[in-house]
Amino acid sequence: MKELRSIWWSRGSVVIIDQRLLPKKLKYLRIRTAKEMAKAIKDMAIRGAPAIGVAAAMGLALTAYRCKARNREVFLKRLRRSAEILRATRPTAVNLFWAIERIMKIAEESETVEEIRKNVINEALKMAEEDVETNKKLGRNGAKLIKDGDKILTHCNAGALATVGYGTVLGVIRAAVEQGKSIMVYACETRPKLQGARLTVWELMRDGIKVKLITDNMAAFLMQRGEIDKVIVGADRIIAKTGHVINKIGTLSHAIAAKFYNIPFYIAAPFSSIDFEHNLDEIVIEERDPREVLYVGKERIAPKGTEVWNPAFDITPPELISGIITERGVYRPEELKELSSGAGGRGE
Ligand code: MRU
Repeated sequence: MKELRSIWWSRGSVVIIDQRLLPKKLKYLRIRTAKEMAKAIKDMAIRGAPAIGVAAAMGLALTAYRCKARNREVFLKRLRRSAEILRATRPTAVNLFWAIERIMKIAEESETVEEIRKNVINEALKMAEEDVETNKKLGRNGAKLIKDGDKILTHCNAGALATVGYGTVLGVIRAAVEQGKSIMVYACETRPKLQGARLTVWELMRDGIKVKLITDNMAAFLMQRGEIDKVIVGADRIIAKTGHVINKIGTLSHAIAAKFYNIPFYIAAPFSSIDFEHNLDEIVIEERDPREVLYVGKERIAPKGTEVWNPAFDITPPELISGIITERGVYRPEELKELSSGAGGRGE
């Protein structure tokens, strides 16, 4: 597999792959402030739940790196302000809030300005490294479920680009391929932002993994034809209390179709995507600009005055989910509740 990193720290700034330009161009964006990072997250230059978590952490590291304040309280105030700006970017993926909380805790516990700066930057870099390790573990756990010759359907992009590297769903597929299994991936294009067509297909082709692109409305027909052995998708937030999974819009339709045709439906996600705290009705499902639906590329496809609903995510209930593949093993959705009750909130 060719190493692919979506984000890294580089001498006081952060470099990300500008995912808006793929697959046409592989271009990098240099980010110098938390505000620039917030814009990159909001505009989806970087996207995918684990990736935006690390991006937010690195955004805070940029503030810590640049802030000239010598007074601890002033320094912390600047960090809190950056945290607020980063929190306001995208509401649904829990990783974003988890990462900001983790960095801010370290900052608030550090005693001097020098310590805050050092600890915040180190923690953000550590999170990036951890992410890749987590995905490799998750990948190995998931690969045990995959048989040689399996045809796997996925939605959106839960690959190296959606994480720091290796990927969650694509991590499972990469690990299975590394074990010598022959896998065929069906990638759903994922309207309206086309992460499947633009990013998943690009990533898999880059690694020489067999992939076929379909439009989202072709998935059920493929299942009816007996062409799909497993469905594996990612998660933006898993509600531990009930086992509901929030993921890219279109996931629910695949889960319903998979249940109807008796096809195992798996979620691949790290523990940082599990929300041990909130109830489902407290979660905000992001609604995005209507133009994403009204246009395909630069081409407008609906009449002037068309009304649009454009939720970025949907909610799959636990009864449609065969298992949740994590770095600590594979769980049934109802098992997460037990983890959360005994865990002081983090499943640890
Ligand atoms: O809107 P996006 O592209 O950020 O949404 C991405 C997804 O829904 C992914 O499936 C999810 O974040 C998991 S990525 C490992």
